[in-house]
Amino acid sequence: MTANGNKMNYKPRETFTSSLGTIAATLGSAIGLGNIWKFPALTGENGGAAFLFIYLFCVVFIGLPVMLAEFIIGRKTRSNAIGAFKKLEPKKPWFLVGWMGVLSSILILAFYTTVVGWILAYIFKALSGSLSGIDANGAVAVFEKVTANPVSAVLWQLAVFALISLIIMAGVQKGIERITKTLLPLLFVLLLICDIRALTLPGAKEGLSFLFNPDFSKVTGMVVLIAMGLSFFKLSIGMGTMLTYGSYMQDEDNMLATAGRVVIADTVVSLMAGMAVFPAVFAFGFEPASGPPLLFFTIPMVFNSMPLGQVFLVLFFVLAFIATIGAMISMLEVPVAFMHEEWGLKRNTAVIVTVLVIASVGSLATLSGSILSHVLILGKNFFDLFDFTASNILMPLGGLIIAVYTGWKIRYKDIQEELSNRGAIEQENMIRLFSLIVRYITPIAILIIMLNGLGIIKF
Ligand code: PFF
Repeated sequence: MTANGNKMNYKPRETFTSSLGTIAATLGSAIGLGNIWKFPALTGENGGAAFLFIYLFCVVFIGLPVMLAEFIIGRKTRSNAIGAFKKLEPKKPWFLVGWMGVLSSILILAFYTTVVGWILAYIFKALSGSLSGIDANGAVAVFEKVTANPVSAVLWQLAVFALISLIIMAGVQKGIERITKTLLPLLFVLLLICDIRALTLPGAKEGLSFLFNPDFSKVTGMVVLIAMGLSFFKLSIGMGTMLTYGSYMQDEDNMLATAGRVVIADTVVSLMAGMAVFPAVFAFGFEPASGPPLLFFTIPMVFNSMPLGQVFLVLFFVLAFIATIGAMISMLEVPVAFMHEEWGLKRNTAVIVTVLVIASVGSLATLSGSILSHVLILGKNFFDLFDFTASNILMPLGGLIIAVYTGWKIRYKDIQEELSNRGAIEQENMIRLFSLIVRYITPIAILIIMLNGLGIIKF
């Protein structure tokens, strides 16, 4: 029996195979639609540079510490998000944070797979040549066609579920590491090509100043909450994903360095996506506040205006799709690791159960673009409701609990032992700084931003 009273796993627990593998997997989880689709859309809707600055504050003082806290708890307990807290605090309700993570995983995947379905549809549109030579009106019409047909939108989403189930059944190392290691650098190169073209478009300057000249008059409590929610979403934190990945890390992995690198790379990729999208927004006369369609309006136009554009366009959507795989796998890993370790289900059975649950909830999000568009709860359709609940409520709340637990319940000596790999790495000052931030700044900042954003208190 293990400490949490469950049957011992018959196999030794798998870990990532190398520290490069660890970085690839965590980066693979962080980089995805959040960077290339959500970041430009939210930055556009919430006034540009001022939003970006608040977002960066959240990344440094909330995102990075919560990610480290999750790594620490995961590797220390070598457990899934629920099991970890049951091991650390048997008979206390801390494990409920793991259940919130399972719920977030379901809600996010429900709408995430809708958007990945759009990407698959765009791959085929690009292959068939129907995006070639279109103007701004044409770009809008194509997007409407893809999202407004309920049957094809749901079928694309189901195709996403089928592909991802097959991939995840290959197991921790093989599935997650191989794909991410080889293909993320390619996405990076393609984004760079995209940036160069976008920045040389007439109107590029306006796009850049939108992204980098802050106007704080647009900032409301809700805007700050959305920026914080984006940092949780983009860094895959507050719902036990990084905790579960921490549990697969090796004893020699340097957690501070891993978290630092992942956060920097994730931010760079988002900025690169922003620098591809916003110049094009202004060059082709779109609205910066177009919302979720923004990427799908602008990217085809950017590629249309360059030689070999159609080839690059196909490649871009293929790589974007590949980038989403690591993120989706990591989200699925939260319920799957839990069901496998706590309920004793075989991993493959756990994958099938999870996917079936998410697919049924997910069609609600997908159909929000068509036959369910009139169904509104608290003024939001299912797609927006799932996104808002997970990103702006459940994940920040999860992050708050994880930060409080790490700062106030884990002894400094234990934090020090984990972060220094039992004294093997010399970084005392960083560890001290981390423990200070996670104890005071992170929880207070999350609390104030949430209460203020939701209108419970007013500053
Ligand atoms: N970080 C991913 C992205 O930016 O696309 C989304 C995500 C993955 C959110 C894993 C949450 C998660 F647990």
